[in-house]
Amino acid sequence: MNASVVSKVSDVADNAVVATALFEGEDSASLPFLSPEQSAQLAALLNLGPAVTRRGTTTLLPAGRSARPVLVVGAGKRGDVTALNLKRGAAVASRYLTGLGFSHIAYVARSQMDGEAWGQASLEGALEGAYDSAIKKTSDRTPRRLDTVTLVSTSDGVESGVRVGQIVGEARDIARELVNLPPNELTPTVLAERAQELASRHGLECSVLDENQIEHMGMGALLGVAAGSKQPPRLITLRYGSPDARKRVAFAGKGLTFDSGGLSLKTGEGMETMKSDMAGAAAVIAGMVAVARLQPQGVCVTGYVGTTENMPGGGAMRPGDVLTAMNGKTIEVLNTDAEGRLVLADVLSYAVKQGETHIVDFATLTGAAVVALGHAAALATGKPMSWVEDVVKASDSGLDRAWAMPLYPEYRRAMDSTIADLKNTGGRSAGAGALTAAAFLSEFAEGAEWTHMDIAGMAFNREGSSSSAPGGTGTGVGTIAAVTRSMASSAAQE
Ligand code: BES
Ligand code: MN
Ligand code: ZN
Repeated sequence: MNASVVSKVSDVADNAVVATALFEGEDSASLPFLSPEQSAQLAALLNLGPAVTRRGTTTLLPAGRSARPVLVVGAGKRGDVTALNLKRGAAVASRYLTGLGFSHIAYVARSQMDGEAWGQASLEGALEGAYDSAIKKTSDRTPRRLDTVTLVSTSDGVESGVRVGQIVGEARDIARELVNLPPNELTPTVLAERAQELASRHGLECSVLDENQIEHMGMGALLGVAAGSKQPPRLITLRYGSPDARKRVAFAGKGLTFDSGGLSLKTGEGMETMKSDMAGAAAVIAGMVAVARLQPQGVCVTGYVGTTENMPGGGAMRPGDVLTAMNGKTIEVLNTDAEGRLVLADVLSYAVKQGETHIVDFATLTGAAVVALGHAAALATGKPMSWVEDVVKASDSGLDRAWAMPLYPEYRRAMDSTIADLKNTGGRSAGAGALTAAAFLSEFAEGAEWTHMDIAGMAFNREGSSSSAPGGTGTGVGTIAAVTRSMASSAAQE
């Protein structure tokens, strides 16, 4: 996709559709670039009521003889503008217009927002809305295409926002595709191959441990989960920069290419979307591609992914089994469906052993995170809280969204086993399922500052919406880019 910035609507190519926000209380005079016919049409619609300005509505004003078509996106109250709302507005325009077959959109800046933030939000929205998830349809159909995005603005910083927004948005598309691929195709082996291909294309170092090396490393928790599957597990490492850079940061991802629950089998309905249980891994792999393209200085960034299936085959782990993780801790498995924490136990132990000082993990870990925050934000927690707060801020500025939750000692006590160091579920009576899971993970992140992002509610959008195709969402990629960029800027200040 081609992106550029121009200073006036009259500089926009003739074959583009102009997309613009219209805020509550504004009228057709607020859009001086409309042709007289378009202006009259909009005035007539506004006379009928305020629907045209309600957030998320779309009104297409056809091209007059000398004008380009204009899509008016209702933007609600001017005071409610946030970067995330702006991105969604841009995505609504893009999904609507690419659905009609238009492939060139020109967004006109209408908010008082900082140029860089506006450029980034617009590009990410444009890419989000244009994404086509029907990757396996064979019928004749024209897939959505977005060839060119033009931003109309005279603010400083728009160009650099465009660069970041395009890089992050395109990386989100990589994550979305990985999530959308069916689990019979995207096995752990194939996910590792995809990571290797992306790494060599973007100049990242990549190494993959196979099942024998995983066993040799003592990763008994990951192996326990893999035992019920015919597919062998993989441990993927991706690196940007040199380990002796001023700052180090690491991202860890849960990569269950399918979660059936194992012997603690899920219901049929419960596993319908469980190909998306590798969305944390997808975020880390795609986030590393974004980092490679952004080229931040003074940082070493490493992505760690543990990938396997959770299946109930004859070799499967049983409720009651005790596994030993790479850091030596023993885990009594009471529910084989609480497998993500077992995989992450070894991934986190490995990252700590590699000398990581700051870790952020991304995992579709618990249904309880969906109960707590729905599909509105990732559930963030970890130790110390100062690092969690840093990551939450980066997540919000990076056009994802996260909410910090506490990690009280009670949650860790709920994970005490009678025969081993830990059990893998706190059971119903403990409550706080997302936080007992996090307390379990904390035992494997000791020695590093660690933030846990439970993205179970954010990773997969079953129905889709007016701004986004159904399926994978690319959540987490923006957080990875923003955490890395803020690390690089603090490295530059030291
Ligand atoms: N992958 C699931 C969590 C999940 C549920 C993600 C719904 C997205 C949507 C995870 O492995 C799981 O099964 N968690 C269990 C844990 C329980 C057995 C302690 C859960 O949340 O029910
Ligand atoms: Mn599970
Ligand atoms: Zn799972």
